[in-house]
Amino acid sequence: MTPTRKLVSMADVSRQWWDRLYMQCCDIINRPEVYADACRGRLIASMFYEPSTRTSFSFQAAAQRLGAGVFGFSDPLGTSVSKGETLADTIRMTASYSDTIVIRSPQEGSATAAALYSEVPVINAGDGGHFHPTQTLTDLATIAQKRGKIENLRIGICGDLKYGRTVHSLVGAMAMFRGIRFCLISPSELRLPEYILEQMSGQGQEYVESESLAQCIPELDVLYMTRVQRERFHDAAEYRRLKDVYVLTKKMLESASPDMLIMHPLPRYGEIALDVDEDPRAVYFEQARYGMFIRMSLLLEFMQLPRLAPKSEICDETKSECGNPACITQSDVYLPKLVSDLGKGRCGYCDKKFPTLTL
Ligand code: NCD
Repeated sequence: MTPTRKLVSMADVSRQWWDRLYMQCCDIINRPEVYADACRGRLIASMFYEPSTRTSFSFQAAAQRLGAGVFGFSDPLGTSVSKGETLADTIRMTASYSDTIVIRSPQEGSATAAALYSEVPVINAGDGGHFHPTQTLTDLATIAQKRGKIENLRIGICGDLKYGRTVHSLVGAMAMFRGIRFCLISPSELRLPEYILEQMSGQGQEYVESESLAQCIPELDVLYMTRVQRERFHDAAEYRRLKDVYVLTKKMLESASPDMLIMHPLPRYGEIALDVDEDPRAVYFEQARYGMFIRMSLLLEFMQLPRLAPKSEICDETKSECGNPACITQSDVYLPKLVSDLGKGRCGYCDKKFPTLTL
């Protein structure tokens, strides 16, 4: 089997690959000294077009704990991007200096676009409100560490399911595991987007939707809280109306199972009260630490791969243009049309349906 050369969505991760990544992650946790020089002489390029604390720092820490170096930016204003350089050219240059590229951008599909022009593996560290697969690896590693296995779980996901990219990647990934049932908790305005719901139905994933966190809590094995994503709202008044809809408090946890995991990708912004932190079920800070170890495991795989000319992807012959204003194809108009993993009639970068033309 040819090794995976990119991680832009969880569709790139097979169950077999996950099992290998996780076993290696456990070994790294137990014997970090064995890996201290594993990537000596290698370099990762860290391209952050959007703010980040955990993702950016954990990649930097992961690379350095493997003996690799890191270069890059946390603000594109200091680079030629501010002179109008295209993503394709920036990626060609960055790939020529590095062994793996980590990219975060507010534009959906940017990592897919980057992988088209890179000779080295590309990792999506978050593309707008679309996907965030390495947060999902973090979440899976946390559940596996805390529960021993990922199986037969009732998982509640609460908050901004519309714009929460960590949620989109997490639900997709759970199709790899048996007996997972979801309780999707959000106000109707922040429900999961249709392309994710359609994918869940296509994979036969079980879910119910609810607006009540209190009603779902007693049933759950895992409660995954999320922040309402202020930066993705077009309407500030709507954000203000929805931002405090769910606040998890110590009192609410009285009805929860004694071994329910409370998770959050972080940062939080009021949706988990501070008094929850002392509850032994709250694992969100440990979760962030597992993120560093699983990223070490991922980098270790990618940094061993040979440099390779990017392979051309299957193009979509339709003349349709993506209508999603957040899609990378809006600014980078030279990009070839790609077929979405979810089938024809959808943009291969952001997975949104092409607008239907009315005559
Ligand atoms: C998340 C993100 O950037 O999508 N943070 C993270 O990477 N751990 C979640 C968020 O910002 O709310």
